[in-house]
Amino acid sequence: MRTKSRMVALLGAAALTLSTASWAQLTQVDLQTRMGTESHIGNIAGHAKDGAADYRRYCVGCHGTLGDGNGENAPYMQPPIYQQPRDFQLGVFKCRSTPTGTLPTDQDLYDAITRGFDRSNMPQWSTFTKQQRADLVAWVKHFSPRWTNEKLGTPIQIPPEPEVTPERIKAGREVFARVQCWKCHGVQGMANGPSAATLADDLGRPIQPFNFTDGTRPKCGDTDQDIYRIFMTGLDGTPMPSFADNIKPDEAWDLVFYLRTFMSQKSKEKEMAKTLNLKPVDPNAPAGQQ
Ligand code: HEC
Ligand code: HEC
Repeated sequence: MRTKSRMVALLGAAALTLSTASWAQLTQVDLQTRMGTESHIGNIAGHAKDGAADYRRYCVGCHGTLGDGNGENAPYMQPPIYQQPRDFQLGVFKCRSTPTGTLPTDQDLYDAITRGFDRSNMPQWSTFTKQQRADLVAWVKHFSPRWTNEKLGTPIQIPPEPEVTPERIKAGREVFARVQCWKCHGVQGMANGPSAATLADDLGRPIQPFNFTDGTRPKCGDTDQDIYRIFMTGLDGTPMPSFADNIKPDEAWDLVFYLRTFMSQKSKEKEMAKTLNLKPVDPNAPAGQQ
């Protein structure tokens, strides 16, 4: 996990943004000045003004007219099980290919809108044309001054996926123990670690860790690459941190393979784990002696 001081610094920064936001809630007039916001998805350019009508029709009921997450349906989404609709004015996003604390790429937002979020009320919008989705990305961006004031993050490098072997699964189990994923996710990935019941997001709302075993899919995608990216960039705004400073790229692949052994979906890793007869990690074992 990131060092404590950095975590505290991040939380401090989030608190600051929040207090500023509550003082200086954006108005329709502020938003008008950012109507020229664009997005770029491959060779398609999205334009905020062209996303306005779709937003009003499909998104406003949850995300609100001013993008602050206060749509009329928001009160029905109750944490910790359901997260509230996102406040786009904060410009903080969970699913990023970019390092923690930085803005996502346009493609990240496009993918999140296309995919929708499992274990959440955020629907999937894959039936929209690419142009519609690109315009919506630009529209989402126009709500936050972060897009005017900050540079985009640079996507993290993901090395090619190695061949899975029993040794790699065992090595992944060591990483899971060492960096203490179990504190929140539990030693069997069932979202019941010792910290699980106490977690809150940056807005102080209760939140549950991901349960690897119940058949639901991660919000930020379920390919091996997606899972790698999730713990190397973190889900900003939540207690799910970035481990980029504590896990080397090669170890990250081992960890992905180990996480697969928890998941109910069929996989090579699950088959291999059966023959390995792996036990859950022991939180009290000395370092390196799992
Ligand atoms: C029924 C409610 C609902 C509707 C309708 C809805 N959303 Fe969401 N959306 C949510 C919720 C809830 C979240 C937060 C989920 C979470 O953080 O787990 C969210 C999160 C998001 C995010 C954040 C992604 C990230 O990586 O953090 C984006 C972008 C987004 N919505 C865009 C849209 C767009 C564009 C539309 C309309 C086409 C839309 N949403 C319609 C409920 C909704
Ligand atoms: C301090 C608590 C905490 C620790 C430590 C932690 N997580 Fe998480 N993790 C969470 C929470 C909370 C969520 C749910 C976030 C959400 O739903 O928005 C989560 C979600 C996830 C997800 C699903 C993300 C998605 O897209 O839905 C994965 C995968 C994951 N964590 C992997 C890990 C791994 C691997 C480690 C260790 C390297 C780890 N976590 C350590 C709290 C933690």
